[in-house]
Amino acid sequence: MDKFVIQGGHRLCGRLVVKGSKNAALPILAATLLTDQPVHLHDVPALADISSMFGLLRELGCSVDVRNPVPTSDPARMSIAGDTVHIRAEDETRSHARYDIVRTMRASICVLGPLLARRGYAKVSMPGGCAIGDRPVDLHIRGLRALGAEINLDQGDIVAHVPKRGGKPGRLVGARIFLGGPFGSTVLGTANVMSAATLAQGVTTIECAACEPEVVDLANLLNAMGAKVHGAGSPRITIEGVESLGGADHRVIPDRIEAGTYMCAAAITNGDITLENCPMDALMAVVDRLEAIGVVVTPSETGRDAPALESDPMRTTVRVTCSRNLRPVELTTQPHPGFPTDVQAQMMALLTIADGISVITERIYPERFLHVAELSRMGARIQRQGATAVVSGTRRLIGAPVMASDLRASACLILAGMAAEGTTTINRVYHLDRGYEQMETRLRSLGAKIERVSEKAGVGAEAV
Ligand code: EPZ
Repeated sequence: MDKFVIQGGHRLCGRLVVKGSKNAALPILAATLLTDQPVHLHDVPALADISSMFGLLRELGCSVDVRNPVPTSDPARMSIAGDTVHIRAEDETRSHARYDIVRTMRASICVLGPLLARRGYAKVSMPGGCAIGDRPVDLHIRGLRALGAEINLDQGDIVAHVPKRGGKPGRLVGARIFLGGPFGSTVLGTANVMSAATLAQGVTTIECAACEPEVVDLANLLNAMGAKVHGAGSPRITIEGVESLGGADHRVIPDRIEAGTYMCAAAITNGDITLENCPMDALMAVVDRLEAIGVVVTPSETGRDAPALESDPMRTTVRVTCSRNLRPVELTTQPHPGFPTDVQAQMMALLTIADGISVITERIYPERFLHVAELSRMGARIQRQGATAVVSGTRRLIGAPVMASDLRASACLILAGMAAEGTTTINRVYHLDRGYEQMETRLRSLGAKIERVSEKAGVGAEAV
């Protein structure tokens, strides 16, 4: 397993292109199962989770052709937002998403709705829990059953089919569906039900739908394929079912979580970075908290395609700088447009060096605090009280060996390591590779002192 070795105390300065969104690309890739026509996607990030989804789609009978896959170690890659991928479902007889794929990537669950709607049958392994907490799929199942699917659990697999009618292959039927759960809406649950409803007979209304930008991007792809989805981005989505869907050509939105992570990186190192292809329209809650802390986020005219990009609030160029003294804040994670849970750990790292006491409350995954113990090893002063963490700012963090537990906790520890005095070693960085493309290469291009070390090299390990 690889690890990162970071020498702290170096400011980040320079430019970065925000990559295509992992959490938009995954349900969009799954939605290509809704047609037998070719779908062309652009700005698909080169990530471990995306590669896992490619593997799953190939197992489900799709051809997946990745164009311009520049080697990830190539600095030239840093100037592009992602790969172009051509996908076509050619063999529609294979509809089993096996456990050994699903257990590595929970988002595999979002093939369930498309398979069911297009092929009338799906067998998808139940995703397990993960480091951030339970990851139930009861709302997915509730929504698909409301569309007429028969769904059973069989030895860890979700087995779903559309009942035949009059001896002919059945078809899902539109319905009014409430998708709210104890923690609000469900992002991938909305993706599953919305995708399935595009081929249902009649109209489907989803109440308490997720409003995340990634749901909007998926709806835009579905409509480009010929679907009739209205209201995506609001809590009520209406889908008029159609007989079939065609191919499409679609550019994935930039990754708001990656952008928020790099904004925190600029702030924690008292740096000065310019982000291109930045989805500012999806970052208002994050920018609100950063500005309350003392971070300055300003539109920049210096982007290479600035005039063209500025016309799209989801693809802007912004400059991020920070005053020396960070102020403490209150922060509560909520469904979009509230503060995203996926930036909670990164903000906690930043707040460990703010001048005062901050309070972070986690309303989406109440157990999403595994990074607290690791930050404490670096001298952070954090008191966990259930779903709330009280962070008492300290003047400095001290580098130490720490352990990454999940994707966003990995990013949090890298930020802390860059701000700490001395050396920080982060183990199990495979978590990071799931959601951040070339993070160490891109941080080095901004002035960070960070090396990826391959554990298998043993003593005197060489940077890789
Ligand atoms: C998506 O996961 C994201 N993943 C997560 O990002 C993100 O943290 C999460 O949404 C919340 O914003 C992708 O898009 C691939 P949910 P998802 O269903 O859809 C409960 C990252 O770091 N719930 O919106 O699986 C659930 O327990 C990842 O990139 C049910 O109760 O999350 C949670 O408390 C981590 N029943 C809340 O809802 C269900 O059937 C939100 O979960 C489904 C969810």
